[in-house]
Amino acid sequence: MTTDHTRVPGRAQAVTEEVLASFDATPDPRLREVMHSLVRHLHAFATDVRLSEREWELAIQFLTRAGHITDEHRQEFILLSDVLGLSMLTVVLNEPAEPGATESTVFGPFFVDTAPEVPLGGDIARGASGAPCYVSGRVRSVTGASIEGARVEVWEADEDGFYDVQYPDGRSAGRGWLRSGADGEYRFWSVLPAPYPIPHDGPVGDLLNATARGPMRPAHLHFMVTAPGFRTLITHIFLAGDPYLGSDAVFGVKENLVVNAVHQEAGPAPDGAHPQGGWHSITFDLVLASDRDR
Ligand code: BEZ
Ligand code: FE
Repeated sequence: MTTDHTRVPGRAQAVTEEVLASFDATPDPRLREVMHSLVRHLHAFATDVRLSEREWELAIQFLTRAGHITDEHRQEFILLSDVLGLSMLTVVLNEPAEPGATESTVFGPFFVDTAPEVPLGGDIARGASGAPCYVSGRVRSVTGASIEGARVEVWEADEDGFYDVQYPDGRSAGRGWLRSGADGEYRFWSVLPAPYPIPHDGPVGDLLNATARGPMRPAHLHFMVTAPGFRTLITHIFLAGDPYLGSDAVFGVKENLVVNAVHQEAGPAPDGAHPQGGWHSITFDLVLASDRDR
C-alpha cells in the first residue's frame, strides 16, 4: 500500500490538536500555558523536519545515554541545555531590567557550596596552577552606593583548564569566598584562568562533533555575589584577546564581561605581596541590581 503524503499534514494537525486538548483541564494556569506551548512547538518541530521513526529512535537513544552518564558530579542534561543555548536564553530572559547592573551569564556545573572563606585580599588559588592574578574592584549598587559585607564566591579552572573537582584526588583549589569591605571593595589573589573544553566525552560531545562545533569555552573566572536587598548576581569575567570569545560552546560571553588582564612585571603588588615572576591584575566592579523586581 502506498502512503498518500498529502494526507499527512491534516492528520498531523489532528494529533496535535488532540494532545493540546488533553491539557485543557490542567488546574494550574501556568502549567497549562507551558504544556500547551511545549506541545505546539514540539509538534511544529517534528512536522517541520518530517521526523522519521529512525530519527525519533536516535533521539530517544541520545536522551537515554544522557541519563546514563548523569550522576551527582555530571549533569548531561544541563550540558545539553548549555550547548543548545537554552541555559543562556533563560539567563537573558530573566535578566533584571536595571541599567548599569553587571550582566549575568551561565552558572555552569563546577560551583561547590563548601568552598572555604578567604580574608579580603586572600588567595583563592590555594595551590591551583597558573600565573598569579590579582582581582579587585567594588561591589556596589547601580546608583554607586557601596555594598559592604556582600558574599563574593569565586571559582575558576587552573592553567591546564581543569577545575579542582575534575581531579580524582579530592583536592580543593581555585575557589573560595570573601566579604566585601566597608567601601564595597573586594580583592583576592587567584591564577590567570585558561580556556578549557566542556565535558565532551558523552552524548553532548558527540552532538558537537557531528555538527562540526567545538567544546571550548574562553578563559573566565566565575562569580556569585549575594547581599541582602539585592538580586543574586551569577556571572563570569572573560579575558580580552581570548581566541574562543567568539565561539563559546555555551554562548555565555557578553561584551561587558570581557576585561583586560594587565601583565605586571615582577615586583610588589598593590597589597604589598611579592609574587615571584610576572603577575596579572584585573579590575572589575560587581554592580548588583535591587531585588525589587524579582
Ligand atoms: C563552566 O563555565 O564552568 C561551564 C559552563 C557550562 C558548561 C560547562 C562548564
Ligand atoms: Fe567555567
